[in-house]
Amino acid sequence: MDIRVEKAAPDLLKAKPDENSLGFGKHMTDHMFVMLYDEHLGWHDAAIKPYGNFSLDPAAMVLHYGQEIFEGLKAYHGKDDRIYLFRPTDNLQRMNISAARMCMPEIPVDVVYDALKKLITLDKGWIPKVDGATLYIRPTMVASEAGLGVRPAKQYIFFIINCPVGAYYPEGFNPVKIFVTDKYVRAVAGGVGNVKTGGNYAASIMAAVEAQKQGYTQVLWLDAIERRYIEEVGTMNIFFLIGDELITPPLTGSILPGITRDSVLRLTKDWGLKVSEKRISIGDVLSANEKGTLREVFGTGTAAVISPVGEINYKGQICTINNGKTGELAQKLFDELQAIQNGYTKDPYGWVVEV
Ligand code: COI
Repeated sequence: MDIRVEKAAPDLLKAKPDENSLGFGKHMTDHMFVMLYDEHLGWHDAAIKPYGNFSLDPAAMVLHYGQEIFEGLKAYHGKDDRIYLFRPTDNLQRMNISAARMCMPEIPVDVVYDALKKLITLDKGWIPKVDGATLYIRPTMVASEAGLGVRPAKQYIFFIINCPVGAYYPEGFNPVKIFVTDKYVRAVAGGVGNVKTGGNYAASIMAAVEAQKQGYTQVLWLDAIERRYIEEVGTMNIFFLIGDELITPPLTGSILPGITRDSVLRLTKDWGLKVSEKRISIGDVLSANEKGTLREVFGTGTAAVISPVGEINYKGQICTINNGKTGELAQKLFDELQAIQNGYTKDPYGWVVEV
């Protein structure tokens, strides 16, 4: 499939934001990629064009029943002005797993990967150069067919937008405080918790707002049946270092199979750590803390990278981790991942590709 390229007129190029105060997801670059789907035509009309609004019928099915999926990956400014992507085809393949679950058409990974590289090259002036800042890439698919019957749509829009970002959390790489909710649940096996669809995030907002009112940055979700077993943090997967064992909940169908999660499992196993994907309850965490064996807690995600957790609140019981400081392992993982992603260290895994 041909990809049409329509560049933004020079006088319409936007001013770039200050790289030292980017925040997350506030500034979009000059261009985007858009591709349309129709059940008869398949994917067609692929174009890189100036960033701009869509025109959607008010009856577009995504607006009513939420047939939407997305991904998150990043482009990095590396040594000698090179540009790198981290595990890009893993994200695109994961998107196709989400598409299958949401009865949406699969994307042609080769075409999209090619478009992504062209788009990043065109907007490469937007990739931040300051340490820790990156270009966040958001591939998205929405159901665009107009209709109010509940069924899979026959038309879709796939698009990629990009924005320069700093740290996801206001705390930066400093430890965040998380609130364990047993009032709300995020997902249940058989549902869509393992799929990157907007509805999972919409459903999480109320718990997050309540946690924020109490001074917590994020919510830690428990399983929906017993409300005991730890699942994820909603914007990241979670790891616990207890004694000498690094533990993360297994992929049982209700949590997101994170690509950073997978990278951390790989790195830590190769470093010789004892690593387990196994069920861990909030009780296990609290009792490890009482015994003094809970050494570190950290989250992993594309947006969050490695995010140390300094405090957990469960029903008013406060668990302070590593005196609220960043742990050694979280720091080592953060440094190693950043070095791999920016091309400063050898990547033995074939995760990084140069654009
Ligand atoms: C990501 O880490 O890329 C995510 O998709 C989390 C996001 C909801 C900020």
